[in-house]
Amino acid sequence: MNGLTDPVTDGSDHSASALAGLASELYAAEPSAKIRLSQRYRPYICPFDQVIAQVPESARVLDVGCGSGLFLLLLAKLGRIEAGHGFDVSAPAISAARNAAARQALTATLSFEERPVEAGIPEVHHSVVTVLDVIHHIPPPHQQAFVAALCAATPAGGRLIIKDMVHRPIWRATANRLHDLVMARQWVHHLQPGIVADWCLQNGMRLVHQTSANTLWYGHWMLVLDRQ
Ligand SMILES: C[S@@+](CC[C@H](N)C(=O)[O-])C[C@H]1O[C@@H](n2cnc3c(N)ncnc32)[C@H](O)[C@@H]1O
Repeated sequence: MNGLTDPVTDGSDHSASALAGLASELYAAEPSAKIRLSQRYRPYICPFDQVIAQVPESARVLDVGCGSGLFLLLLAKLGRIEAGHGFDVSAPAISAARNAAARQALTATLSFEERPVEAGIPEVHHSVVTVLDVIHHIPPPHQQAFVAALCAATPAGGRLIIKDMVHRPIWRATANRLHDLVMARQWVHHLQPGIVADWCLQNGMRLVHQTSANTLWYGHWMLVLDRQ
């Protein structure tokens, strides 16, 4: 960790196995086996603990490309957020997110919307924008404009958290490429965190935390940026 801010610690267990246990409960009644299993095991792939630690207490979170809503559902179950709104282009993923929120009686706290990022980033009175493993799905000619839109969507005094996959070492990037070829049937385009950080700085953001982590054969980086 290369922390410039202190991670929030609320005493809950944020280990991969604890979060996987929560994820298993959240999606136990999900009819799609692909979604049920991918969400259950996702905490072993994605270092959610490090991202959760950077979300300020009682934040109102907008999760861009939220998939089946796992990150927001975890935050809500851990009592870490006041509200969350997630959007994603995938209709089955949004349906699974809505159903999981309903089963957990979290519909007053969480909402989910089927929407592509190309339709713009919605204003939902959020204080934090999170973007987990989405940038590498955006075609390279649009990645810089997407990052600029994320910055513009972060309100004054708010925070932008971007977590994505490494482009080096090549074997870790290849492992993720193969994962996305199988799971998303897509050839993805990883970006260096330094390039993304530069784009954010050009758009008025201040870098407060940068970290990298490995899980299994996957490599991750995370940028935490605040707007004054
Ligand atoms: C690797 S998944 C990450 C999901 C979630 N953020 C997480 O960490 O569990 C990438 C997500 O980005 C979404 N996505 C890709 N392109 C998108 C677009 N143009 N607009 C909205 N969502 C998109 C996909 O549908 C998918 O759910």
